[in-house]
Amino acid sequence: MPMQTHNNNELHLDPTRIPRHIAIIMDGNGRWAKARGLDRSVGHQKGVETVHTITEEAARIGVQYLTLYAFSTENWNRPAAEVAALMSLVLSSLEESLFMNNNVRLLLIGDTARLPEEICRAVKALEEKTARNTGLTLIVALSYSSKWEIIEAVRSISAKAAAGEVKPEEITEVSLSDSLTTAGIPDPDLLIRTGGEIRLSNFLLWQCAYSELYFCDTYWPDFGREDFHRAISEYQHRERRYGKTGEQVAAEPSLQE
Ligand code: IPE
Ligand code: IPE
Ligand code: MG
Repeated sequence: MPMQTHNNNELHLDPTRIPRHIAIIMDGNGRWAKARGLDRSVGHQKGVETVHTITEEAARIGVQYLTLYAFSTENWNRPAAEVAALMSLVLSSLEESLFMNNNVRLLLIGDTARLPEEICRAVKALEEKTARNTGLTLIVALSYSSKWEIIEAVRSISAKAAAGEVKPEEITEVSLSDSLTTAGIPDPDLLIRTGGEIRLSNFLLWQCAYSELYFCDTYWPDFGREDFHRAISEYQHRERRYGKTGEQVAAEPSLQE
């Protein structure tokens, strides 16, 4: 029997530099299942367990906002059976206890018009029930894509302009941000993508303009607390310069917050 080894090199996270907002592209469920000769839906079921683990951990370490990409506009093009399996999984995974036990507030972003009525109802009820929770805000991106939401925002601003309520020169970064589904939510500090692909797949393109990007090969069902800490630790070692020089940043530590 091999000796049980203790992991003494647990990563040290700086509690004063926990990212305020972490966004995650949860990828690799299908390949995780395929590698085990299982149906893709089993990978999605395992993926839900990871959602619970990471949500609890994010709440525990003091992350304020966690945005999870659960289903993209493009995912509607998957086989109907997989879409149906994903939708029923979304419904069953909205466990009230996860939110109430961890003081988590739920928000949904995405094109709700395309979602099954029962999901909209369940999400709305849970959003209301959790509205007064003061810990982590969990934002689930469902039937979401960045280009979809930017078009929606442009339409709503254009309608105001056509009605004479806003002048073109009054449109600013702030007013466009305020017209997105993420209005009022600070931009992600850290964007994580699991599953080995190095792309954004139409996720939070505007909001991630200055986010730190972290890609790892681990499939989402295998992504655990340690992997999550590794991503945050790497984030804590990055220097966020926002176009300035390293010397300027050193003289202005608030930029690093
Ligand atoms: C991510 O896993 C979950 C969704 C997109 C809903 P995938 O289903 O994309 O898994 P892979 O990329 O095929 O392994
Ligand atoms: C991105 O994953 C969407 C979600 C994680 C919900 P995909 O697996 O759909 O991305 P692509 O199509 O491979 O880029
Ligand atoms: Mg994928």
